Amino acid sequence: MVSPVGISMLGSGNVGGGVVAALNAASNRYERSVGRPLQLRQVLVRDLARQRDGLTASQLTTSFDDLISDEGTQIVVELMGGEEPAYEYIARALASGRDVVTANKEVMAKHGAKLLALAAEHEVRLLYEASVGGGIPIISPLSRDLLANEVSALTAIINGTTNFMLTAMADGGVDYKDVLAEAQRLGYAEPDPTADVEGFDASYKLAILCGLAFGLELFPEEIERQGISLLASQDFIYAAELGYTIKLLARARLDDGHLIASVCPTLIYHDEPLAKVDGVLNAVEIEGNLVGHVLFEGPGAGPTPTASAVLADVLALARDIVADRRPLAVTPLIPAQVLPSASHKSRFYIRLTVPDQAGVLAQIAGALGERGVSIASVLQFEADDLDDAAELVLTTYLAERGAVNDALKQIEEAQFVQRIGNLMPIAGLGGAR
Ligand SMILES: NC(=O)c1ccc[n+]([C@@H]2O[C@H](COP(=O)([O-])OP(=O)(O)OC[C@H]3O[C@@H](n4cnc5c(N)ncnc54)[C@H](OP(=O)(O)O)[C@@H]3O)[C@@H](O)[C@H]2O)c1
Repeated sequence: MVSPVGISMLGSGNVGGGVVAALNAASNRYERSVGRPLQLRQVLVRDLARQRDGLTASQLTTSFDDLISDEGTQIVVELMGGEEPAYEYIARALASGRDVVTANKEVMAKHGAKLLALAAEHEVRLLYEASVGGGIPIISPLSRDLLANEVSALTAIINGTTNFMLTAMADGGVDYKDVLAEAQRLGYAEPDPTADVEGFDASYKLAILCGLAFGLELFPEEIERQGISLLASQDFIYAAELGYTIKLLARARLDDGHLIASVCPTLIYHDEPLAKVDGVLNAVEIEGNLVGHVLFEGPGAGPTPTASAVLADVLALARDIVADRRPLAVTPLIPAQVLPSASHKSRFYIRLTVPDQAGVLAQIAGALGERGVSIASVLQFEADDLDDAAELVLTTYLAERGAVNDALKQIEEAQFVQRIGNLMPIAGLGGAR
């Protein structure tokens, strides 16, 4: 009898359940593709009493020590989430000579370089396709298909929860609180939505992509990060008036050896491909010197799309095990020289609530102009909630974020305005991408 390739899983929740279902449903096809059957041996969980489709009680364990001492396990699939104990378990699995597949963006963003070095040291592999973009193939294309390119920029929508919320706000003039409640009701947002709405999740994924695209080690805390929780329904109306939509864009590019990386709600011209990526979809646009622009788009989360990415890694490893292929060398990452966010250049959108009186615009233009920030357009609207006040929406020409921030601080201190509503970069069409 042909011996199977043994797989054990850490976690069997949303994604793990999808992986088990696909492994059971397509076992014959996977066996043909690998050349040997895949055998799911042990599954680590917290709660043994919970009903889990497709798994028998004898496959479940609450002991990582028991799981890792199973000699028939050749591939460990980590689907627990969170930094610890996932990081420790992945490291122990690699050190024990097992290949590892993970969907864990937090672990890969914070510890990816260390874990990949550990895998190389033990001559095993660590694959992580599902950690960015759910079902979209992006890690593998960056590691293989685009390898001949010098990548100059990447722009991505890599958080489905916030993209669902921003799409709803753009469609319906709905407020942030209502749209968050709807996302939570539909299961797209967690009860504590901070990781998604404040941009942490997207910054983990951007850090992983920068490692692959630029060969640079970038830690999530080095990324300029702004969430979506301060966006108001008016911002979408005014952006549309100007020809833009608002997306939480994760962007990175190289400028004179410096890496510029940010996760910010950003105005993007309505005709750009990324502006049309709606709902829970994700997309990643890469600019390479040989290929030009390529766009990867698809479902960024969910049990079956994510299982598609996890199992692609499992199948690739299983084929290597069967063929007795040794892991490819891993190129070490170089620490990124990150440009501070105050020096990021872009065009900007600024929304201010101002007293409805003469001379205010001149004072605002003066404060911006003193710092080299030129106004490109001005729109004025009635302020719905305040008497004798107007909403001013300014767009600037290319300017440094630090200069715009300083001008807004002066404007606020000098009480030229009643409220600073929002400040967002504008991508594309002259904006620094
Ligand atoms: N959900 C998605 O659409 C999606 C998309 C892309 C990537 N991912 C990533 O995939 C991973 C899994 O996500 P998920 O949504 O499937 O999570 P989940 O539904 O919360 O499942 C987590 C699983 O891990 C187990 N677990 C957690 N901590 C454990 C511990 N300390 N010891 C033993 N077992 C533990 C849980 O056991 P119990 O069942 O006993 O509680 C559960 O089975 C995460 O890294 C996530 O970021 C998810």
